[in-house]
Amino acid sequence: MRTKLILGSLCLTASLSLSAQKSATITLQPDQATQVIPKEIYGQFAEHLGTCVYGGLWVGEDSDIPNTNGYRNDMLAALKELKVPVLRWPGGCFADEYHWMDGIGPKSDRPKMVNNNWGGTIEDNSFGTHEFLNLCEMLECEPYISGNVGSGTVEELAKWVEYMTSDGDSPMANLRRQNGRDKAWNVKYLGVGNESWGCGGSMRPEYYADLYRRYATYCRNYDGNNLYKIASGASDYDYNWTKVLMDRVGNNMNGLSLHYYTVAGWNGSKGSATNFDNEDYYWTMGKCLEVEDVLQKHIVIMDQYDKKKRIGLLLDEWGTWWDEEPGTIQGHLYQQNTMRDAMVASQSLDIFHKYTDRLKMANIAQIANVLQSMILTDGDKLVLTPSYHVFKMYNVHQDAKHLPLELTCDTITVRDDRKVPLVSATASQDATGKVHISLSNIDLKNSQKVSINLADLKVKKATGEVLAAKNITDYNSFEQPNKVVPTQFKNMKLNKDVLVVDLPAQSIVALELQ
Ligand code: AHR
Repeated sequence: MRTKLILGSLCLTASLSLSAQKSATITLQPDQATQVIPKEIYGQFAEHLGTCVYGGLWVGEDSDIPNTNGYRNDMLAALKELKVPVLRWPGGCFADEYHWMDGIGPKSDRPKMVNNNWGGTIEDNSFGTHEFLNLCEMLECEPYISGNVGSGTVEELAKWVEYMTSDGDSPMANLRRQNGRDKAWNVKYLGVGNESWGCGGSMRPEYYADLYRRYATYCRNYDGNNLYKIASGASDYDYNWTKVLMDRVGNNMNGLSLHYYTVAGWNGSKGSATNFDNEDYYWTMGKCLEVEDVLQKHIVIMDQYDKKKRIGLLLDEWGTWWDEEPGTIQGHLYQQNTMRDAMVASQSLDIFHKYTDRLKMANIAQIANVLQSMILTDGDKLVLTPSYHVFKMYNVHQDAKHLPLELTCDTITVRDDRKVPLVSATASQDATGKVHISLSNIDLKNSQKVSINLADLKVKKATGEVLAAKNITDYNSFEQPNKVVPTQFKNMKLNKDVLVVDLPAQSIVALELQ
């Protein structure tokens, strides 16, 4: 039998109310601001998986779908608006079976391979190193290369680095020139393997730690390009992996990764992306919020070994993971994206902002047509998902000063006594002095009267946008691409140092104060 949702306990000390309008208070604490939110928290991830790359990003120069040198034009326009700071590629699990030399040179000469991880699809390698790095240049984002440790060799990875970044008269730089690219690319982020405990080689952390040290030794810095080397990190609650890596690799790495998915199936299955009830929804919110505890526990371990916080934690895969859409190819991880996914995005980003003294990057999985995507495509059609809209509404926080805040609101208790606060919020101040506050009302039924104490920020004007849907299960389909889109938000009143916001049920609001 299902347990009931219990409305009631408080995240701090607000009084319990069962009326249709609830209340919450927020106090901004600009005097306690110490961190800048690195733009890389808004990172993306593109894997050779399903139609993420082929179809989502790349259609080839000969396609009827409008494109620029093979990249779909609608995708380029949408992603430029997002201000993507960093893009991870080519996997994921795919990375540890990928041999980069198969993806350079004339396309007709490129060998095919079986994409064993993802449905056994035949990969023709038409999208390779040049196609990826040129895309990053077009999007003005940092590339994050995920290297093959599981089935590759040290020599192979070392030569890839040389191919991409050497500007001298070196063998790999000359091969690159032969393939049409004279100047080296800037490649900062290099992942040394992916999920090396699983699809990346089923290794023990002790073994991987040694392997990391060996691979990393030969990945050189060429001609002023400084690699930020990232060790393959833990899955979710595997704190021992982090401990062993910190102990045995330590300062030989610049960053350590971590993967956390909101896989919200509570009874064995992941559940449908679009067909879920209120209890499923609140449970998902709880599972999403659990990332905070997971981050804290990995950070405590990292702090024990690295008091000066030299080593970054990179959550380079996160997001929702539902059952694949009925009728789609098994193993392609294509899922729809509802207002529930938008809530996962906003709450997760709110949490990430709080830990950026250690958390240096986060990459939502994935950018197109896979898991919690920004865009979905079908032939020449493209829709922007509710998660896309959250990323766009939130991109004002990139590289802005994080403003800590204290939040008081009601919580709801679901199934296993998981307590979910009904309001989530984050705030920052950009270089021009503008303050941005993002608010999410998790509550499906009740609006929230949120009183925001602005401290001494001397705000004169507030404007806003709201992302809301009639139903939490609403999504943007190819037939109805604008069902969940941001609109202007005006339900707020500024009284000196207090802004009172009437936050609609199941909505996300982005405010700009100046
Ligand atoms: O994002 C899908 C897959 O999830 C990635 O390939 C892998 O790293 C993770 O298990």
